[in-house]
Amino acid sequence: MATVAFKTLDQLQPAGKKVLLRADLNVPVNGGQITDATRLLRLLPTIQELAQKGARVIVVSHFDRPKGKRVPEMSLAPIADALGDALGRPMTFADDCIGPVAQAAVDAMQDGDVVVLENTRFHAGEEANDPDLAKSLASLADFYVNDAFSAAHRAHASTEGVARHLPSFAGRLMETELNALNIALENPERPVGAIIGGAKISTKLDLIGNLLEKVQVLIIGGAMANTFLAAQGVKVGRSLQEGEMHDTARAILAKAKEKGCEVILPVDAVTATEFKANVPTRVVGIDAIPDDAMILDVGPQTVRDLCAKIATLKTLVWNGPLGAFEIAPFDAGTNAVAQEVGRLTQEGRLKSIAGGGDTVSALRHAGVTKDISYISTAGGAFLEWLEGKTLPGIMALESVFERALPI
Ligand code: 3PG
Ligand code: MG
Repeated sequence: MATVAFKTLDQLQPAGKKVLLRADLNVPVNGGQITDATRLLRLLPTIQELAQKGARVIVVSHFDRPKGKRVPEMSLAPIADALGDALGRPMTFADDCIGPVAQAAVDAMQDGDVVVLENTRFHAGEEANDPDLAKSLASLADFYVNDAFSAAHRAHASTEGVARHLPSFAGRLMETELNALNIALENPERPVGAIIGGAKISTKLDLIGNLLEKVQVLIIGGAMANTFLAAQGVKVGRSLQEGEMHDTARAILAKAKEKGCEVILPVDAVTATEFKANVPTRVVGIDAIPDDAMILDVGPQTVRDLCAKIATLKTLVWNGPLGAFEIAPFDAGTNAVAQEVGRLTQEGRLKSIAGGGDTVSALRHAGVTKDISYISTAGGAFLEWLEGKTLPGIMALESVFERALPI
């Protein structure tokens, strides 16, 4: 997307002021336990900086998809507790994000205090970007800070509408995310490559189309590689693939050729007749996939080729695993390539930027999250950014003083 001029916390003097901080507290939860607290931890610098500078920090966020109703299991209360634990201070929680309950919590604040308000999506106006809800949220504060890059693809009241009513700033996490993405695609050191994996071409068409214009090397893995292979006449047995996407796949390959973008597909594969743990596997050349087998990972020759190619790159963007990494041994290809990316990054030879839900779990599984230059906290927003789309939450950060506003 086009670079947006936004203000950061460097331009905000928050002492004694009320700051509405849009966070993304939408963390994965399983059986009442937070399974990945990354989003909470990455938010801490912004909260700490604002609190230390004497702001009254009012944290708002959505959580899950309650669709405009109060759903008790989707309350932010337990997440607020976890945030308090991470911050090392008890967290005040208010049972509504607007109205008298929210106002009373805000009125009781002292400078340096932090409160968390209840799930914005308990109000239907959140997803509808209702101007009244945006105004009610804005009426709680003097300034708006958006630190929710991972929700910036949503034009909702707390991510977009509210910025029309308050001087608006990017938080430190938002700033870091935008800088990292800028280094990856807008202003990268070349050659730039991308690894795109995952199941379906149909969900990543725009993304591939945009990347062809920006990268010199496009590595395709995961089940989507099967569709490209099958479209070129390769027999992929019982592998997952999208038969109706063959024309599209061929058109993508033709466009890549025209743009001078090298597309790399697997040359061998790890196959099995069933997708489950400890099944017998066979490594075969891509032109020798048995009729009754499925491709479940890239093979060892592909891993060697990919590692050699990645060593020639200066910048790498990664979205999507190369194989069905959730079940061993089909994680081997993703692990090996991830470890090489981590090593090249640590040696200072590569800038590596990864994002998207599965990608982050795959990199964590490979044990390399610390070795990658930057891992985005975003899933859908990272994908939309890779698609070259304008993210409404970021556009809204252009200062109200610098643009004419449709209200
Ligand atoms: C995410 O987890 O991708 C963001 O928090 C946005 O959530 P949503 O997909 O429910 O809008
Ligand atoms: Mg999502």
